[in-house]
Amino acid sequence: MRALARLALATLVVAVPLTAVVAAHAAADPTPVTVLTSDFEDGTVQGWTGRSAESLAVGTTVAHGGTHSLAVTGRTATWNGPSLSVLGTFEKGTAYTISAWVRMADGSDNARLSVERRTGGTATYETVVGNTAVTSSGWVNLTGHYTLSADVDFLNLYVETASTTGSLYLDDVTASYVPALPIQTDIPAVKDVVTEFPVGAAVTGAEITTEHGDLLARHFNSITPGNALKWDATEPTENTFTYTQADPIIAFAKAHDMKVRGHTLVWHNQTPAWVFQDANGATMTATAENKALLLARLENHIRNVAAHYGDTIGTWDVVNEVIDESQSDGMRRSSWYTITGLDYIRTAFRVAREVAPSAKLCINDYNTNVAAKRDALYNLVVQLKGEGVPIDCVGHQMHVNVSWPSISDTEAMLKKFEGIGVEQQITEMDVSIYTGSGESFPTPPADRLLAQAYMYRDMFALFRRYKADLTSVTLWGLADDNTWLDTYPVTRKDAPLLFDTRLQAKSAYWGVVDPSKIGGTASPSASVSPSASTSAGPSGCAVTYKITGSWPGGFQGDVKIANTGSSAIANWKLAWTFAGGQTISQLWNGTVAQSGSAVSVTGASWNATIAAGGSASVGFLASWTGSNPVPATFTVNGTTCTVL
Ligand code: XIL
Repeated sequence: MRALARLALATLVVAVPLTAVVAAHAAADPTPVTVLTSDFEDGTVQGWTGRSAESLAVGTTVAHGGTHSLAVTGRTATWNGPSLSVLGTFEKGTAYTISAWVRMADGSDNARLSVERRTGGTATYETVVGNTAVTSSGWVNLTGHYTLSADVDFLNLYVETASTTGSLYLDDVTASYVPALPIQTDIPAVKDVVTEFPVGAAVTGAEITTEHGDLLARHFNSITPGNALKWDATEPTENTFTYTQADPIIAFAKAHDMKVRGHTLVWHNQTPAWVFQDANGATMTATAENKALLLARLENHIRNVAAHYGDTIGTWDVVNEVIDESQSDGMRRSSWYTITGLDYIRTAFRVAREVAPSAKLCINDYNTNVAAKRDALYNLVVQLKGEGVPIDCVGHQMHVNVSWPSISDTEAMLKKFEGIGVEQQITEMDVSIYTGSGESFPTPPADRLLAQAYMYRDMFALFRRYKADLTSVTLWGLADDNTWLDTYPVTRKDAPLLFDTRLQAKSAYWGVVDPSKIGGTASPSASVSPSASTSAGPSGCAVTYKITGSWPGGFQGDVKIANTGSSAIANWKLAWTFAGGQTISQLWNGTVAQSGSAVSVTGASWNATIAAGGSASVGFLASWTGSNPVPATFTVNGTTCTVL
């Protein structure tokens, strides 16, 4: 059956309309332009300086290429290291690939490659390549990508280490970029075809400049700052508000007559630590005093941020991801919840309504197509609305993939919230090409891109049918060159959007704009075949591992398996490896076997089968010493699961 399906797909790929789409990609063969080369072969430091008083000298003791390299000695702090000005070399909005070779003179450490940029004296540090093990026995390559997103008066590339001040060598540093292709102007604008509701994209950094800005303005009539309005961006320290990241995006939206979704006023992530610290700087515990302080901070935050934008922001995600359907009351145990109960949600909506009376106020969450999650969110919204909390809208994130979820589950999600006096919005849609976290493709396979196109086609057809309920549909990104899925849930190249890494329309775009161009009538789930190059099976799973309590020497944990595939998982066997010598002493809702660090758990009679879209959880008690790291990888019946 599967072989047949693949054959049918292969035939389809060669068939008429898709060939044109695929051929357009192949023609866009990227030739990088090199803007920086430091090989030190001329015996000079080629513009490199120390970040402090360390010494830089070119020598022939070791070399990566040729005979010379740069030696950095006399470092007195880990942040000391070789630094080069790239002001005037790097242009705003261009994505550079930077490569550098590093080795230690003695011993070992972790090295990283970063950029320091300054605007009007304010410095920002951006990591290009994170901590990478380096030793004195060989050269290690650091390669990463960097896009300058702001106007700057200082821009330096530098190498530093994580823990020692040992001397190091640097060699063969290069920076290059692939020239942008002009955006296509001979294809319909998404917003002109999909007219039932505004269609938006989330943007970060430099995506409002150059070709990215052109693409954004051409196809979309709504915009969501992807990170710029989150608490860590707007109020990094208490009562100091900065809008330097968000203001240019909002100005772009205004200039192009686009709507703005404000994301987000309250979340458990990307919220600075000070928010949850008491008057003495200690982590807040659930006391009446801390509750009052936390709610006052929340009120102050919303008063400032929402007031700064007034009417410009037509919709706010007031609270984000508050549901945890595995809890008996359905509420996520965030610090917000453990300290204030439901009052943080009540306060957030009350204050937002007061400060931004004309804005639509949303409660936003992911996996709302999963029945248990959807129902928990529904119950909360009904309860709060009953109390008079001004919730205008339910936001469905829709981070989905090429084979999940079904259209019928998505339709059930939309139907569920009808008739309770809320608008609905699709707030963060993207369609990953991966169906499990064990997969990784160097380039997106054609069958996945086609399945993705069908998924976009079918989802947009559904959304358009539900135009009476839906008041906005936003994609979580503009093009495949910048997607959060490149590093979440694991690092690998993903391609979840309508435009490819060079901003050209993909089959996914045609799935939305003109499905006749992608042919076929296959449903998304039928069109995905497991790739031979991956270890993941056809079904999908997502595991949530939580330490629910911890004390010296012991802890309590909770592991949930969600079946994200389209068929039931029978007789599940969950496996993971403890990295810190932890040992399970007792487990409930299943049977455990542990051999050394390897743990395997099978279900109890009543939860051994997990229906599609369903989940099973086990709880356990275990011992630990030293550290208690969370296991990195989980498998269910041999398939690697997404880790949530
Ligand atoms: C993501 C951003 O896209 C990333 O750049 C950031 O590092 C992490 O957050 N659900 C949400 C969004 O509500 O705020 C998240 O955005 C993606 C998941």
